[in-house]
Amino acid sequence: MRERQHVIFAISEAAPYAKTGGLADVAGALPRALAKLDVEVKVILPRYRGERAGAVGRCVDERVDVPFAFGTKVAAIYADEYKGVPFYFVDAPEYFERPGIYGPNPNEEYPDNVERYAFFSRAVIEWARRLDPPPHLIHCNDWQTGFIPLYLRTAYREEPRLQRTKTLFTIHNIGYQGLFSPTLLERFGLSPEVYRTEGGIEFYGQASAMKAGIVFATAISTVSRKYAEEIQTPEYGYGLDGLLRARAMRLVGILNGVDYEEWNPATDPFIVAPYSLEDMSGKRLCKADLLRTMGLPEDLERPVIGSISRLVAQKGFDLVREAADGLLRAGVVYVLLGSGARELEEFFRDWQRAHPDRIGVYLGFHNELAHKIEAGADMFLMPSRYEPCGLNQIYSLKYGTVPIVRATGGLDDTIEPFDPTTRSGNGFKFVEYRADHLLAALERALEIYADPPLWRACMENGMRADFSWDRSAAQYRELYERVIRCEGPFGEPT
Ligand code: ADP
Ligand code: GLC
Repeated sequence: MRERQHVIFAISEAAPYAKTGGLADVAGALPRALAKLDVEVKVILPRYRGERAGAVGRCVDERVDVPFAFGTKVAAIYADEYKGVPFYFVDAPEYFERPGIYGPNPNEEYPDNVERYAFFSRAVIEWARRLDPPPHLIHCNDWQTGFIPLYLRTAYREEPRLQRTKTLFTIHNIGYQGLFSPTLLERFGLSPEVYRTEGGIEFYGQASAMKAGIVFATAISTVSRKYAEEIQTPEYGYGLDGLLRARAMRLVGILNGVDYEEWNPATDPFIVAPYSLEDMSGKRLCKADLLRTMGLPEDLERPVIGSISRLVAQKGFDLVREAADGLLRAGVVYVLLGSGARELEEFFRDWQRAHPDRIGVYLGFHNELAHKIEAGADMFLMPSRYEPCGLNQIYSLKYGTVPIVRATGGLDDTIEPFDPTTRSGNGFKFVEYRADHLLAALERALEIYADPPLWRACMENGMRADFSWDRSAAQYRELYERVIRCEGPFGEPT
């Protein structure tokens, strides 16, 4: 019999405790799917005071001494359980007792973010070395935890209790890298030695937490197959493509899953009328409810297109701005829920004011409204410039809300163009990052929408598909096994 895997899942946000995006959804669901496969998994994240994370849990360790900032800083560890999975929280008021997660608002970052997560990473290791048994594997996620593999292979190299501990570093988004001045290395208790280009963390004159994860982890993964290929190219690699090509043997893509306990139109507590493949009548009521909620006329014949997103360059909303007149001419209603870049927020606010009967906009973060949009819209638009996985298009499939996406990353892996002759496919996509191509994809969608039996076939293909976490979790478990067993060269940075 295989030994039970003991895994720490380290991450900067996790639903339902603290969320800015899909990262939190993954942390809220993957560990539970792993636990079902008998993996012993503990999730750990910071105890943000402005978020739910700061209000839950009991203190299980009052004093973890963390060598940091030329002395010792003390963290406390809190614990809570969510749907059977143990969640742990690093409590350090100096770093985490603030109004937001990464900044005071979506447009602003805390200036000491790199220090906050270097501290978090080191606290995780100090906590891990006291565990019995010590973890076989620490699964790290994005740059905020990139310091963990680096510390393990340097400052903790001789730590007897962590000799067998391997690391998996999952890239959820290579566009955010945690760059910092190398002068901070000493403050974090890291040798200036690590600041080198080959086999180190130097990145065009700065130090990079993302590069630390990629170079020092035993293995690397990302959240779709397509993105695993894309990040090895200059167009998508954000300067790290060469390194990723060199480490390609250690890099795999595993598609994210969906938590159907949270995102399912048959059981969703936030929508006015549940519906399912067997009985779709509720969807029209949800559409009416969405239009009402957004202050739009209750015209149920007009197609409604929805988007829910962080408004940042990655997500492609400059294309929507460019396509704005075309969208209106196509006769659709457009509903947006999002927050982020000021100029985009302003554009959408102005557009809504100019066309209050056709455009609905909510600027901010609103989980309930996100569910209402998934259920009430006819189509879901994601024109991303790049998209490591993307979860909303997969939620949309389940809600019979047909995705229109740009063919990149996980969007490309999950959406197949609908073909009216074979009635196969679940959505519409365009390849080139161009507003006229977006509009052409919309035209194709509207043609099918005008033919109700065909549209119904397209919706049903999406609703029938199963993107639950079970399959992906089984892939992670296999990968964990390979990473934990690997000896010799596997585990050395290339
Ligand atoms: P990313 O993680 O890059 O933002 P994903 O598609 O993986 O993109 O996940 C986005 C998640 O965040 C989804 O669960 C989505 O519903 C949620 N979300 C994004 N913006 C908002 C918002 N303004 N209000 C509510 N939920 C949002
Ligand atoms: C990132 C990506 C998104 C992905 C999410 C969860 O935020 O931008 O595409 O779905 O992480 O992996």
